[in-house]
Amino acid sequence: MPLFSREFGVDLGTTTTVIAEDSQILLQEPTVVAVIVDEQKMVEWGQAAKDMYGRVPESIEVVRPLQYGVIAEYEITENLLSFLIKKVSGPMLFFRPRLMITVPYGITSVESRAVHEAGLGSGAREVFLIQQPLAAAIGVDLPISTPSGNMVFLLGGGTSQAAVLAMNGIVTAETTRTGGLKLDEAIISYVRKKYGIIIGQPTAEQLKIRIGSAIPMEQQQEMEVQGQDQVSGLPRPLVLTSEDIVEALQEPLSDIVNTARRTLEKTPPELLSDIIDRGMALCGGGALLRGMDKFLTKSLGIPAYLVDEPLTCTAIGAARAMGMRDILRRSLLPT
Ligand SMILES: Nc1ncnc2c1ncn2[C@@H]1O[C@H](COP(=O)(O)OP(=O)(O)OP(=O)(O)O)[C@@H](O)[C@H]1O
Ligand SMILES: [Mg+2]
Repeated sequence: MPLFSREFGVDLGTTTTVIAEDSQILLQEPTVVAVIVDEQKMVEWGQAAKDMYGRVPESIEVVRPLQYGVIAEYEITENLLSFLIKKVSGPMLFFRPRLMITVPYGITSVESRAVHEAGLGSGAREVFLIQQPLAAAIGVDLPISTPSGNMVFLLGGGTSQAAVLAMNGIVTAETTRTGGLKLDEAIISYVRKKYGIIIGQPTAEQLKIRIGSAIPMEQQQEMEVQGQDQVSGLPRPLVLTSEDIVEALQEPLSDIVNTARRTLEKTPPELLSDIIDRGMALCGGGALLRGMDKFLTKSLGIPAYLVDEPLTCTAIGAARAMGMRDILRRSLLPT
């Protein structure tokens, strides 16, 4: 039974929330809540709530309280956070924990204040805020305390954030609101336009993960999905190929590449040459899209590589940043 205040790294993501302590993952669940509309009462959370998406009566709403990495539904976020912190703390919590919560690069002070307050509202004794690309860089052990340049490209569900880091801080960075959810939307609209069939977000996400790719694949794959005919409204099966998904993803992927490009354009030449030597670390769930590394390497002329734990490195980095508060003090957001 811990008789001291515990310290958690909380990666509050648009699609997934991950909580870590030291180098251990304590929780990894979809940032999704099902609420009773009238009472605004939470009835389900995490994977169970995500599974309810598109399958609930009118009295229940399935909500993503974060959008593009920022809090869209304050009370729901605070309730969810408070629930999650209790869950990872266990029943014997005597001292309130300290939290290092991640936020996207470039959010406004109003948006970051909301995260800080939600953290305190969830029962924490102290809340620190760290920008997600910095947390990810720490989580994947990039040598960011040196004067040499390091680059992270964090491809999340609601955002994509490119950052160049040196001397324990972010030198240049850019965030776009194009993330995995936009890729799913692009698949939905492609299937509707090309085949006249409507599919839901969970199906689009499955297509992306199972047969999707950022570049044309040598081995084409297929997947059958159930959709709804746009005209008759009746159910209709449809077989889609990897080629379909590659084509559907073109537009959002070019937006993602441009985000990295704009970051590189602003980067001082000395740091650029380091990055060409060391490459760019791809983190976040979007980094798992087949061919993403090759696609970015080819488009940017900088070697891009997938890190070992793309889904959890940001939370691990946030947890580690707790013990690095002194050297990071100029880089943590004011609270
Ligand atoms: N194998 C895969 N191929 C393609 N995309 C994937 C794969 N696995 C997960 N994803 C996508 O990664 C996204 C989730 O990534 P991540 O958990 O890093 O985002 P997040 O932290 O919740 O969002 P953000 O950081 O933007 O707030 C989802 O859109 C999901 O569909
Ligand atoms: Mg994230």
